[in-house]
Amino acid sequence: MEAAFLVSSSEYEDREQTEVKHEILQRYLSGFVPIVGAWASDIAYIDCLAGPWQSVDPEFRDTSFARALSVLRKTREVLKERGKSPSMRYLFIENNSSAFPKLKRYCDGISDIEVTAKPWDFAQHIQDVVEFAKERHDSFPFIFLDPKGWELLDIELIRPILTLEPGEVLINLMTSWITRFLALPEKRFDQLFGKDWPTLANLSGEEQEEKIVSSYANAVRKAGRFKYICTLPVMKSTQDAFHFHLIYATRHVKGVEVFKETEKYVIPFMHDRRAQAQERKRFLSSGQHPLFSSDALYKETRFTRYRLRSIEVTKSELRQRLGASKELLYDDAWEMVMQHSAIMENDFREWLNKWKADGILEIQNQPRGQRLPRRGQGQMLKWIPGVTK
Ligand SMILES: C[S@@+](CC[C@H](N)C(=O)[O-])C[C@H]1O[C@@H](n2cnc3c(N)ncnc32)[C@H](O)[C@@H]1O
Repeated sequence: MEAAFLVSSSEYEDREQTEVKHEILQRYLSGFVPIVGAWASDIAYIDCLAGPWQSVDPEFRDTSFARALSVLRKTREVLKERGKSPSMRYLFIENNSSAFPKLKRYCDGISDIEVTAKPWDFAQHIQDVVEFAKERHDSFPFIFLDPKGWELLDIELIRPILTLEPGEVLINLMTSWITRFLALPEKRFDQLFGKDWPTLANLSGEEQEEKIVSSYANAVRKAGRFKYICTLPVMKSTQDAFHFHLIYATRHVKGVEVFKETEKYVIPFMHDRRAQAQERKRFLSSGQHPLFSSDALYKETRFTRYRLRSIEVTKSELRQRLGASKELLYDDAWEMVMQHSAIMENDFREWLNKWKADGILEIQNQPRGQRLPRRGQGQMLKWIPGVTK
């Protein structure tokens, strides 16, 4: 294939990280709505910082609000086929004086869905968000918080949103900006990280980035009494570095399963988009078509290191948990493991198989001939005391 054809010409050029973010949102919602819509009589989708922001498409197809609306429209059809018709309401908030009229015009053009656009300063209207979420009986709110900086992620500020129950949140934590300013007391990072802030400010590099994410994720978990939290880093489009981390909080294991499926799809998607962005950059600087495909020339080390670290941390936590319990249901172990970023169920199953082969783990109730253990079969994991490997 001609190299030029491989170069992405999409509206996300030079901001592939935004495309990845939108893909995560869209994929997650595609799984979430049919599950929640099967029992809730109303779904309230609230984008607290809606944009449009750096959108280049005249029809705003490259915005989070348009992408969310399109997926929610499709899932409404899926639900209808299953005999379910929950109402769906959308609240989009944007206070920028040039962005809001565009958002308003877009929303005014929608007639098949209940959409409300408000020119609110989000910080001044937290209670209105809560009221919107609670307006209808048996409603399930999904709240998206995607700020430009970090100030609006102050835990005390958003606490009323985090405590909405039922409810789920997806938060964009701009780690690449936070690390630049973290040491400055006037930036009030204590409002995000509480007592962890001085320690975090004294760390550096990847360790600091990792601890920032876990500290904020824990603060969200604690404030909203969420049972599960997942995080997912999104890389910069052409640099070997993370741009931001998405933090997803839920109280239901099904939500985590959908997020895991999203992760499984989005990680290769992100590498693919970055490979195309790198190819475009090479072409622009050399003017020459490459001899090899964008995949073959793709460069990345940061995500690989991140995944290796995540494997190390998860395995150690799992071994501790197995060692501390007489026996552990496979499903419960996976529930713990699945909250770790960039770890898939097959990774987990392969570790168990290896430990079994090494003679340090017994898997009970596994049918003869079944290569990898499975959920929902009452399979118990039993660490064999005294054996070390
Ligand atoms: C990162 S952008 C959101 C992008 C959008 N979620 C997307 O992916 O297409 C953040 C938006 O929040 C808006 N914003 C910033 N501070 C705000 C505030 N206090 N209240 C409401 N909107 C605000 C900005 O004008 C900007 O459009």
